[in-house]
Amino acid sequence: MHCARRSLFNSTRRPQVSGWIARRYKGHSAQDNKNNLVRPTSIFPFLDPPAPEANAAHRYYPRKTAADITTSRSPPTRIKMLTRDFIDDSLYNPNYGYFSKQAVIFSPETDFDFTEMRDHMEFMNVLAQMYKELENDADEVDEVARQVWHTPTELFKPWYGYAIAKYMVSEYKLNQFPHQDLIIYEMGAGNGTLMMNILDYIQKYEPSVYKRTQYNIIEISGKLAERQSERQEVRDLTEQHTCVKIINKSIFDWDIHVPDQCFFLGMEVIDNFAHDVIRYDTETAQPYQGLVSIDDKGDYTEFFEPVGSDPLIARYLATRKQTHYKTPALANPMWYKLLKMLPYAPNLSKAEFIPTKLYAFLEVLKEYFPQHRLVLSDFSELPDAVEGVDGPVVQTRYKGTMVPCSTYMVQPGWFDIFFPTNFEVLRDMYLMVCRDARAGSDKSVKVLTHRDFCERYGEIERTTTRSGENPMLMYYENMKFLIT
Ligand SMILES: C[S@@+](CC[C@H](N)C(=O)[O-])C[C@H]1O[C@@H](n2cnc3c(N)ncnc32)[C@H](O)[C@@H]1O
Repeated sequence: MHCARRSLFNSTRRPQVSGWIARRYKGHSAQDNKNNLVRPTSIFPFLDPPAPEANAAHRYYPRKTAADITTSRSPPTRIKMLTRDFIDDSLYNPNYGYFSKQAVIFSPETDFDFTEMRDHMEFMNVLAQMYKELENDADEVDEVARQVWHTPTELFKPWYGYAIAKYMVSEYKLNQFPHQDLIIYEMGAGNGTLMMNILDYIQKYEPSVYKRTQYNIIEISGKLAERQSERQEVRDLTEQHTCVKIINKSIFDWDIHVPDQCFFLGMEVIDNFAHDVIRYDTETAQPYQGLVSIDDKGDYTEFFEPVGSDPLIARYLATRKQTHYKTPALANPMWYKLLKMLPYAPNLSKAEFIPTKLYAFLEVLKEYFPQHRLVLSDFSELPDAVEGVDGPVVQTRYKGTMVPCSTYMVQPGWFDIFFPTNFEVLRDMYLMVCRDARAGSDKSVKVLTHRDFCERYGEIERTTTRSGENPMLMYYENMKFLIT
């Protein structure tokens, strides 16, 4: 069963994008070769009207990054930004970004006893009821739409955390015990559930390892960092884990060198790392990078310029080239040749979303955590995504329903924007950035499906229902792990 973490119980049909949702998106940009502005592809370009004159004003707008506008109280106008800066600002701006609004991670008060349930449908029904109650509460409390995330960590607690603990402890005992401490860093710990489950497991089943365990959380959200501390405080003093340290900062602001061997965890965090958008010249295959300009009325225009001015995009593409990756955006040259014969033919390929912030994260790992072992899990595919290679899901909750959109250029702060990850490309890029190794050269760097990982390390009988169905294995088929 494929899951998009925030729409498990809602329709995933794509409604018509209403003015309310994308009220500011203009759509096509215009062709202006003098300024390297290029008209993107449309599926049926012969049906499109001639491109309008380029909005000349945006040539003179100042170019900003997300970091330049962190102090803005509201989304700025009369500027232009790379796509990743636009998305980064929409999600993370401290004043109006999506993450600065209240986001709730669904966490059932008690753990489910799967062995007592008839089958997975019973589990679905129980969940749907709990989720509905939570949504009703949210409507009463909040004026703005609020997101409710449900993650495997929360739905299958403590068994999912136990599986990750079991994996780490077995690797640690094989390679480091008893000479070194077990040091864990978890980025984006949400409610702190994984941390509690991992430490409970080690304390209960591996007391000698527990004595040597240190657990560090790197959390961007102040509210969630507080919640993670509270998870400990509500426990009896004797049951609190004193080996935990919570650091409230973004992984992209990390500046401490960690020379020790450590495990670095990130569960459902990388999907929000902003991407850039690339299109290729259909004749020369030259890549063009996407920018968004925001005019004085707050209308968005997407336009493209040749890759070169942005060092991160350039580094990403140069490294990816060495993995011999072939972009699906140019997979059909005959189609583009055919299109060329039509009036107003596109001169650029379809869009490809490239994970530039994920690449920057690999660089952080290499620089500050040179001895880490990575455990990363996230979506490998997503339903209802924006068109293009590795396009994101852009959605918000409106009157209790998740509403997906067809563009990322939407009102900043109101929408969750999250991407699928091509784990096979990520593995190859990881090898090049973090191990200075060629793709495929190190078999210890592995991609596993969610099911493979859970079957290998999970206590499967604890998540099996009476009918023999196992929701922990059945759900999240569209998630993968990278372990190194
Ligand atoms: C979808 S939640 C997942 C929470 C938890 N890992 C789970 O699986 O239940 C994403 C988490 O990552 C955090 N996060 C997002 N971007 C981050 C960044 N750049 N640095 C650190 N934490 C980040 C969010 O605040 C949140 O805690």
